[in-house]
Amino acid sequence: MDAKYHTGIDEIDAQHLEIEQVATAVIEAVATKEAWHSVHYLMVRLYELLRFHFAVEESLMRIIAFPEVIEHKRVHDEILQTIERMKVATLDPNGDAARGHPALDFSFLPHVVDHDRKLADFVVGFGGLARQQGGG
Ligand SMILES: [Fe+2]
Ligand SMILES: [Fe+2]
Repeated sequence: MDAKYHTGIDEIDAQHLEIEQVATAVIEAVATKEAWHSVHYLMVRLYELLRFHFAVEESLMRIIAFPEVIEHKRVHDEILQTIERMKVATLDPNGDAARGHPALDFSFLPHVVDHDRKLADFVVGFGGLARQQGGG
């Protein structure tokens, strides 16, 4: 994960890293024309990881009364909808996936982490969590 995306909150950074690793595996599976079911399995995994991660962040935001929770959750919801569409697309018997070329758009990926900067700063300001060394 690019250092500029580190929030400095260990648990969130660890989840971001795992999400990035699975997303990279999807991109590689598509690039190497792996079977549709391999791509679909990875998409299901990516979706479940994101759903869990977003729920954790949204719970944290409510606990600390983060003022931009609505906007932040809106980004989460948009990303989940995108992944849901891609997940379904890998199953479409008439779609690109069936021909071994699922046209998946990963332009959403940087948004998974870049919008967490404000939340991370707020958490640290809240004083309830310590930032790790070099995470700033
Ligand atoms: Fe996040
Ligand atoms: Fe987030």
